[in-house]
Amino acid sequence: MSGACQGKPNNPPTHGQPFWLLAEVTYRCPLQCPYCSNPKDFASYNNQELTTQQWIDVFEQGRKLGAVQLGFSGGEPIVRQDLNELIGAGRELGYYTNLITSGVGLTEEKIKSFKKSGLDHIQVSFQASDESVNSLISGSKKAFQQKLAMAKEVKANGYPMVLNFVTHRHNIDRIDKIIELCVELKADYVELATCQYYGWAVDNLHQLLPTQEQLARAERITNEYREKLAAEGNPIKLIFVTPDYYEERPKACMNGWGQIFLTVTPDGTALPCHSARMLPIEFPNVTEHSLESIWNQSQGFNHFRGYSWMKEPCASCDEKEKDFGGCRCQAFMLTGDANNTDPVCSKSEHHDKILSAREQAKTDPQTPFLYRNEKNSRQYADNIIATS
Ligand code: FES
Repeated sequence: MSGACQGKPNNPPTHGQPFWLLAEVTYRCPLQCPYCSNPKDFASYNNQELTTQQWIDVFEQGRKLGAVQLGFSGGEPIVRQDLNELIGAGRELGYYTNLITSGVGLTEEKIKSFKKSGLDHIQVSFQASDESVNSLISGSKKAFQQKLAMAKEVKANGYPMVLNFVTHRHNIDRIDKIIELCVELKADYVELATCQYYGWAVDNLHQLLPTQEQLARAERITNEYREKLAAEGNPIKLIFVTPDYYEERPKACMNGWGQIFLTVTPDGTALPCHSARMLPIEFPNVTEHSLESIWNQSQGFNHFRGYSWMKEPCASCDEKEKDFGGCRCQAFMLTGDANNTDPVCSKSEHHDKILSAREQAKTDPQTPFLYRNEKNSRQYADNIIATS
């Protein structure tokens, strides 16, 4: 491992420590959700996963840098046979450890052994409140019952029940049923997160983006349930996340580029956000560089730190310290230039892209879902090679 990454930063580093270390331990997953945020050519990396010891080295270096939260995600992290060992190593180093899972592949025994290894938190994701939509989205007929059973098992093992539902035009009208299922499961925290458009979701935008009316109705119903459940003394927390596409100002993505978040992909590439791999920027790999040099000195992490990279209207905007110009990946996907203002912002000259997506959402999608799976991913990888 060399001491420093090559590359001259184009901004002075203005950052502290990475609080959040996200270990994307694998891109492999038994499900095929059409909104998966993994890179579209994920299959190219399936034989390049870091070893157990390489991951533990990354965790040690992360703690030295000041990271306190360690997330295990993927793909489906449970497909890693060494997950229990990785959890134990993370906990021993003093991290607060968090498993983000679809619940598929989870068993009562695994939950018990994760608990014994010190896992602090488990989040189970659902595709819908009913079996048929869940099967349609996940591509698995068995997934729904498995998720129900595992969500109950997580709670039975003394964990808070933390559920995540990705909502979109095919399930958002059943938000009441989703909330009722969560109440039935005695959930403690529920994230009702409207799909964001990264990875595979970009190609399925028209299939997934709800209309403004659908979104407003879902938010109203969620608020009504919040009041009703609070009046009944139910402590459940319903967190409603609106999609960027219906905002007029961009989000402060990742709390600012390279400020608190560091993700390491299955093959060891270190990124300031889970989508940055698509950007025309060179990102360092933990097998070649220390995490300290990656965080503090690499060109990839310094690229959008500070404000000097900004163009107008961000450069003179009095909100730039609040939203940092929005999401670099979204700017790149929608305008072809990651230095541009995120088109979600109504001040962006590309905001019409967001407005036309909203208009398109009013019409029925004519195309079928493009599912995340090995075959589709290989086709992407072939296209990338053919066009480069
Ligand atoms: Fe990459 Fe927003 S997802 S900067």
